[in-house]
Amino acid sequence: MFQINENFTKLAKSYLFVEIANRIAKYTEANPDKKIIRLGIGDVTRPLPAAVVEAMKKAADEMGREETFRGYGPEQGYGFLRDAIVAHDYQGRGIAISADEIFVSDGSKCDTGNIGDILSANNSVAVCDPVYPVYVDTSVMGGRGGNPVGGGWSNILSMPCREENGFLPELPQKPVDLIYLCFPNNPTGAVIHTAELKKWVDYALANGSLILYDAAYEAFITEADVPHSIYEIEGAKKCAIEFRSFSKTAGFTGTRCAFTVVPKELECGGVSLNALWDRRQSTKSNGVSYVVQRGAEAVYSPAGQEEVKKNLDYYRQNARVIFDGLKSAGFTVYGGVNSPYIWLKTPNDMKSWDFFDQLLEQVQVVGTPGSGFGPCGEGFFRLTAFGSAENTREAVERIVHRFG
Ligand code: MLT
Repeated sequence: MFQINENFTKLAKSYLFVEIANRIAKYTEANPDKKIIRLGIGDVTRPLPAAVVEAMKKAADEMGREETFRGYGPEQGYGFLRDAIVAHDYQGRGIAISADEIFVSDGSKCDTGNIGDILSANNSVAVCDPVYPVYVDTSVMGGRGGNPVGGGWSNILSMPCREENGFLPELPQKPVDLIYLCFPNNPTGAVIHTAELKKWVDYALANGSLILYDAAYEAFITEADVPHSIYEIEGAKKCAIEFRSFSKTAGFTGTRCAFTVVPKELECGGVSLNALWDRRQSTKSNGVSYVVQRGAEAVYSPAGQEEVKKNLDYYRQNARVIFDGLKSAGFTVYGGVNSPYIWLKTPNDMKSWDFFDQLLEQVQVVGTPGSGFGPCGEGFFRLTAFGSAENTREAVERIVHRFG
């Protein structure tokens, strides 16, 4: 008789954002006339830059003509996009990464989960707490979680990130094989400075650890001395894989395009991780569509860059509206400066999910309960700056009016 992957049965019944969507659906069914403002999942609302849309239309036309039609593309991504990524995101910052170290994909969520395919189930894992739940759930799916214990997992080291340490994790006391880091951080909006990130790279090199570095929010960095890529740190190419995405940078949450950097210097016992990931991707994926990759390429055009900047500024302004509005009403707030996420303390030490329910029922604003990101998120709440300016202002007014 066939057997299932038992690890799946250890997980919570639904993924965090599915649970939130279910609660909204239930509320909407009972209250069809109420206008809900959604600042929960980090989903963008600004339309794609016109330069991206034009490039995709042109590519779609090419697909409709015999002379320019394309079938399967390279599994790793088209050369034109990999070259543009290298030129703008790496060489442009003085980082020596080559095109064959870039793997284009349909999302960083997928890649941070799929990367487990090339890593042994015997690896120990460390994650921040609070944490983007994908790292934990996919580690459990891949047999690296052990069993649930006290809100965590027996084989996953949770690194508490609290107010008192600026929401930064401390280096583990003992060697850990795989370390997930995300900066600017989802959910707290915290950033890591160059000297601090260097400590992690040094730790990984000294202990034979692999850092899985999620930099999906790097475009929101505004301050100096905050690395956009882990490869700004010397030695990182020997110990880190980096995940980057067009989702939040250029509005691709629904269009889907991202990339993962696996440096050729990265080896384990003489085996190249770049070769393993290449083998994995070319076997299990046919890449991202030509039309979408042409759209992603256009993000780097002068017109694309200008529009991307406008959209990022728009979200930054929303972040300020939330941050300042809540702060002046007496809330304790974090993040929002180099990040689209505002991390706030719930009023009157309310439990995160209780605050979620009260916000939904009393003022029809949706956010994400901090405890959904891990035990250290209890008593916190995340709001995103990705809404429309109008809805963002209205949401803050509603929250302040009722809870300020
Ligand atoms: C979030 O809200 O944390 C993100 O939108 C999730 C994601 O990017 O998958």
